Amino acid sequence: MHAPVRAPMPTGQELVAAIGDLRRRLNAVILAHYYQDGEIQDLADFVGDSLQLSREAARTDAEVIVFAGVHFMAETAKILNPSRQVLLPDLEAGCSLADGCPPDGFRAFLDRHPGHVVVSYINCSAATKAMSDLICTSSNAVRVVASIPRDRPVVFAPDRHLGAWVAKQLDRDLVLWPGSCEVHEQFSERRLVELKVLHPGAAVLAHPECTAALLQHADRIGSTTDLLRFAREATAAEIIVLTEPGILHRMRRENPGRTFLTVPGADESCSCNECPYMKRNTLEKLYLCLRDRAPEITVPEDLRVAALRPIERMLALG
Ligand code: 13P
Ligand code: SF4
Repeated sequence: MHAPVRAPMPTGQELVAAIGDLRRRLNAVILAHYYQDGEIQDLADFVGDSLQLSREAARTDAEVIVFAGVHFMAETAKILNPSRQVLLPDLEAGCSLADGCPPDGFRAFLDRHPGHVVVSYINCSAATKAMSDLICTSSNAVRVVASIPRDRPVVFAPDRHLGAWVAKQLDRDLVLWPGSCEVHEQFSERRLVELKVLHPGAAVLAHPECTAALLQHADRIGSTTDLLRFAREATAAEIIVLTEPGILHRMRRENPGRTFLTVPGADESCSCNECPYMKRNTLEKLYLCLRDRAPEITVPEDLRVAALRPIERMLALG
């Protein structure tokens, strides 16, 4: 028996048209994070930060959700909207924060901190979510932790830099799981200071996944959506951006007269400020995943229900 002959992979504008055609036929919606390549953001139905994408996934009536982002985001979409088929163009699109907080280790950590309220950043697996009382994103982390009475001890996982920043905002001690984002940790303070000397009037915008050493130089700190807003509000002609450079696609489009600068990592030979997981998604993989309706994200029902509870508590906070 011969394998069925497949049509060749379309290219260029034909590829974009073929994705649009499949999207219509499947009644699919394409959700993309701000860190995706510009060409993916341009054809997505909705582009947003983690919180906005979760809300959009929860309310969509499309039959298929294609998630142009990373695994924990697609998994969250499935947890929120289980009757939809959720596709991720590349199953290897992980996240160092989610991967650095394995369920067994997290369980043992929580056992060492009995009686603590557990707040987990949405960048974690369904298993970690299921062990949490509340989920947060970088847009609402301060608000979520502030909703917990001050006399209750809190474990914050898995990003210690975001957790330390939240603790500082609220002047409150948090027990931090020792995880970090391998991308935001790469930014070099030395290179940032050099850039500030070369561009003395530039404003510095930073994502709270950066280290405290970097955050101390920032004029504004916030989620990807916050950073887009800060860029629109800024009066400086030059803006230094301490987060994944995929966001510059939209920043430049929204602010045509301004210059946006990124900060390289300490190692000049790598583009380590790009998220290697986000960048696994391509137009070709988007096309293939719509064509084959795979790879699909599935979550066992008992785990889904347990992981949904802390997400719903977050969404209820508004
Ligand atoms: P946002 O929630 O700000 O979009 O951040 C997601 C993320 O993965 C940052 O690295
Ligand atoms: Fe995870 Fe960092 Fe990539 Fe965001 S930038 S998806 S936190 S590895």
